[in-house]
Amino acid sequence: MIIGVPKEIREGETRVAATPESVKKLIKKGLQVHLESGAGDAASFYEKDYIAAGAQIVNAGHALGADIVLKVNKPSPQEILQFKKGALLISFLEPYNKDGTFEKLAEVGVSAMAMELVPRTSRAQSMDALSSQAGVAGYRAVLEAAARYPRFFPMMMTSAGSSKVCRLAVLGAGVAGLQAIATARKLGAVVEAYDVRKEVREQIQSMGAKNIDLDIGEEGAGAGGYAKELSAEAKQRQQDALSERLKKFDVIISTANIPGRKSPILITEEVVKGMRPGSVIVDLAAANGGNCPLTEANKVVVKYGVCIVGTTNFPAQTPGDSSHFYAQNLVNMVSLLWVSKQSGEFVLDLNLGDDIILAALAVHQGALCHQR
Ligand SMILES: NC(=O)c1ccc[n+]([C@@H]2O[C@H](COP(=O)([O-])OP(=O)(O)OC[C@H]3O[C@@H](n4cnc5c(N)ncnc54)[C@H](O)[C@@H]3O)[C@@H](O)[C@H]2O)c1
Repeated sequence: MIIGVPKEIREGETRVAATPESVKKLIKKGLQVHLESGAGDAASFYEKDYIAAGAQIVNAGHALGADIVLKVNKPSPQEILQFKKGALLISFLEPYNKDGTFEKLAEVGVSAMAMELVPRTSRAQSMDALSSQAGVAGYRAVLEAAARYPRFFPMMMTSAGSSKVCRLAVLGAGVAGLQAIATARKLGAVVEAYDVRKEVREQIQSMGAKNIDLDIGEEGAGAGGYAKELSAEAKQRQQDALSERLKKFDVIISTANIPGRKSPILITEEVVKGMRPGSVIVDLAAANGGNCPLTEANKVVVKYGVCIVGTTNFPAQTPGDSSHFYAQNLVNMVSLLWVSKQSGEFVLDLNLGDDIILAALAVHQGALCHQR
């Protein structure tokens, strides 16, 4: 069984779906790996190391025409045409963007697993690529804020006077938010955080941040460790309550998100107007509309003297470790599918009785599995 790893073609993408280390693990399982020439270059993983790990270097067509194709980003229509009938694709597939990708995959007769649909359960943790990449994004967002903030994060005492400590707010304390709290604390900021799910209060405190308490008259916890959408009244109460509180912060990292929904607005234009000039907002939810209406996806803009960063692919700025984590998520996913039969022979088994496979399988043998 051949695993193909093509070079990512999306603009700005630097990650790769296999590293020399993950190739070694796949080959140990009896699989062959065909990697497109140069696929790991942008993440500083070079061909000689892939070859030493046992991979064969091939062209794009060969990598895309393999039995199992591992990718970071959803394939383009041109890439889809190069898949072979009966193949399996495992990749981020943006399942909530109804742009016809699933239908095109079904037309060419492939099966496809969307890494976004892996459930957030203990058993699936080692395959949870959204979390592995969100952790990188939370870390990187704080570095970006620190680089753009015209002052120090920690209080500094010098012979020429002292600087004030940076007050930083994190909105949404899921995977990215908790990592942002940890990173901002290490850099010396004083951190407060808010999440609509009351159950994360203790986690916020354990990372060394103070909770921002709001009474919005509604519980925000939904299923599977995610938030649920609030009523229109609760949304308004939340914006009003946050409005005065947020203006005192120098930096805001916002990560509030509900899968499949437009991001909630937490930082209104009024808040931005009231922030000190030189303040920074890094809106990690930019790809989904943003937590601030002034955010522009993939741009850095200055509004009312406040710098608003709408980068949508922070993991690509730390491609070595992002790829390392993602490739390991994929090895774990392949291991779940590559099972030994009684004869001792290994086969690819898309067992729909397995809750992880059932949840992540978006296209099965040319048919759409779920209406999303
Ligand atoms: N920009 C990037 O490079 C990049 C990279 C990876 C992830 N992301 C994005 O970062 C965001 C966070 O990802 P994650 O994996 O940490 O998600 P997550 O689901 O773990 O965390 C999101 C948090 O937002 C909270 N939330 C939802 N609605 C809220 C509201 N109205 N008020 C306050 N809190 C609210 C949720 O309770 C949850 O804790 C997502 O939007 C994701 O798409 C961005």
